[in-house]
Amino acid sequence: MNDKRFYITTPIYYPSGKLHIGHAYCTVATDAMARYKRLCGYDVMFLTGTDEHGQKIEDKAKEAGVTPQAFVDNIVAAPGGVLDLWKLMNISYDRFIRTTDEYHVAAIQKIFKQMYDNGDIYKGSYKGKYCKPCESFWTESQLVDGKCPDCGREVMDAEEEAYFFRASKYADRVRDLLLNTDFLEPKSRVHEMVNNFIDCEGGLQDLCVSRTSFTWGVPVDFDPGHVVYVWLDALFNYMTALGYQNDKYNDLEKFWPADAHFVGKEIVRFHAIYWPAFLMSMGLPLPKKLYGHGWLNFNGDKMSKSKGNVVDPHLLSQRYGVDALRFFLLRSFPFGSDGNFTNELLIQTINNDLANDLGNLVSRTTAMAEKYFGGVLPEEKWAEGRDGELTDMVKGLRARYEAQMEKFQFQNALEEIFKVIQRANKYIDENAPWVLAREMEANGARLAAVLYNLLEAVRVCAVLLTPFMPESCGKIFAQIGADQSVQDWDSAARWGVLPAGVSVSKGETLFPRIDLDKELAELERIQEEAQKAALPELEVEPFLEEPVDFDTFCKSDFRAVKVKACENVKKSAKLLKFTLDDGSGTDRQILSGIAMYYKPEELVGKTLVAIVNLPPRKMMGQESQGMLISAVHTEKGEERLHLLMVDDAIPAGAKLC
Ligand code: MSP
Repeated sequence: MNDKRFYITTPIYYPSGKLHIGHAYCTVATDAMARYKRLCGYDVMFLTGTDEHGQKIEDKAKEAGVTPQAFVDNIVAAPGGVLDLWKLMNISYDRFIRTTDEYHVAAIQKIFKQMYDNGDIYKGSYKGKYCKPCESFWTESQLVDGKCPDCGREVMDAEEEAYFFRASKYADRVRDLLLNTDFLEPKSRVHEMVNNFIDCEGGLQDLCVSRTSFTWGVPVDFDPGHVVYVWLDALFNYMTALGYQNDKYNDLEKFWPADAHFVGKEIVRFHAIYWPAFLMSMGLPLPKKLYGHGWLNFNGDKMSKSKGNVVDPHLLSQRYGVDALRFFLLRSFPFGSDGNFTNELLIQTINNDLANDLGNLVSRTTAMAEKYFGGVLPEEKWAEGRDGELTDMVKGLRARYEAQMEKFQFQNALEEIFKVIQRANKYIDENAPWVLAREMEANGARLAAVLYNLLEAVRVCAVLLTPFMPESCGKIFAQIGADQSVQDWDSAARWGVLPAGVSVSKGETLFPRIDLDKELAELERIQEEAQKAALPELEVEPFLEEPVDFDTFCKSDFRAVKVKACENVKKSAKLLKFTLDDGSGTDRQILSGIAMYYKPEELVGKTLVAIVNLPPRKMMGQESQGMLISAVHTEKGEERLHLLMVDDAIPAGAKLC
């Protein structure tokens, strides 16, 4: 058996809506890591999947009028769904688990029963707070300003008969794991976990692990009516997908314990505390590493569907290419911290790093090899010594890159590569091949050596960039004539292995330069449109909860009023001035801020509704004797208003009651 084995996972995604760039971030990082390990010669298992149970899915399916299974099937497997996105992003996962897969469901039932039998799951009654969107239970003391500490939304009271997992029993062992091992990284997340959840007031609380208020979950088979809490169900995916408690797969021995779980910072809690505790309860080995990465914000704001500011990876890949997007995500933000995604940063990164630095290096080198040597360099290869700075840098690159990749520091690993790329571009300017080419007789050998050195620098960089941009690196290898034998890990640490006589050809431009201003305007337009499209068709004002007593209501005097005249109020964009017949024989004047909805002339002769016993109010120096009644609602984010108009048969002054 290959003892170089590597098991890495992403979180399994909630198929409650379309995935956005934040979701793609973690998966691209995991993919780069998996590809890197394969490059190093490891036998890799890369697992991803979907987490399909829970109340949120049940509710969404109900809203959509379909069964929960049909709802998740659609998001996972339909065109534009999760599987499609991973295909588009070139995600090289080895296995995809869905928690509704039969083998997983059966395994979870066995696990739950075993924990019950060993006394770590017991029956009690749950009373506390529940955050529906996060599917998380909280104690009163964990809330922040009375709201969910993860997402900041309202929580609800919850009380029901439930099973509990004896997490408290494992508090000391989990604390020890977090404080005294390298299990959780970055280290900055360790104290937050220990202080907030283990060494907090009351210590580590037992965890409620079953629900009875909805049915979309793994049924507790020995107690009908209970379904397994979605996090217990979801976390064990990392093992059931290898064959734990099922016969579908047989890879447990080979791949467990996992080498790395990559997860976003808000779900570190489940992975750092409950996951190890569950494994301890089942007597299983613990994963070697948990890495909690940061969040991508958009223009400084949290990405969220309800805010309509989620960034669509389909759109960006279409416009700039998948590799450019993959590269941008890992080049621009340190993996352990939050990052601020802006369109400007995206385009600048593509222009600076890919079009200018890498693209230029490849195209200049290949174009010159073609131009001066017909694409085939003569045997004279390299002139060690004269070019030591570049060659030394290239020779040591793999080791510097490896050191960063092993720490999951993708940004730093890429920085090492780009230092070499920048140095190589400078090398072109220093050696001015176009000057050497003027006297081929005297300088031909030197010119060949310079170009060869550049090809080698490009080759090594391309090998190491492959995990990030597999497709583009394939194109680079084709352009520099590098075959498989000089694309591997071993050859990335060796200088001078590109054989003489390879045929170099300048191919298509790898990364076209983007016109920043034009593209920014276009992107903004598209994103605004998409944002609008994502808004609800119709929104009505929330209903007032506070009742009004009948007598108070009757004190409001609503009358039909006929518009005798209507005009814009000078210097006001909003106000219209109405002269109204209210049946009293004296004209009534009302001002109303509706000028953006109506032209004055359309309203003359109409019968409207007004409340006439409000105290008079001055607006823009004019008196308003009441208020016109209108209906308001929001359509696709735009506020709409309609004056309430009544039948001509209703005479001015008629009381509405
Ligand atoms: N289903 C759980 C995971 C269960 S793992 C046993 C879940 N799913 S999720 O779809 O809501 O989120 C999946 C991952 O996407 C999480 O790691 C989360 O941190 C990540 N991201 C979601 N939005 C994100 C950003 N804006 N930025 C970076 N990652 C974020 O949680």
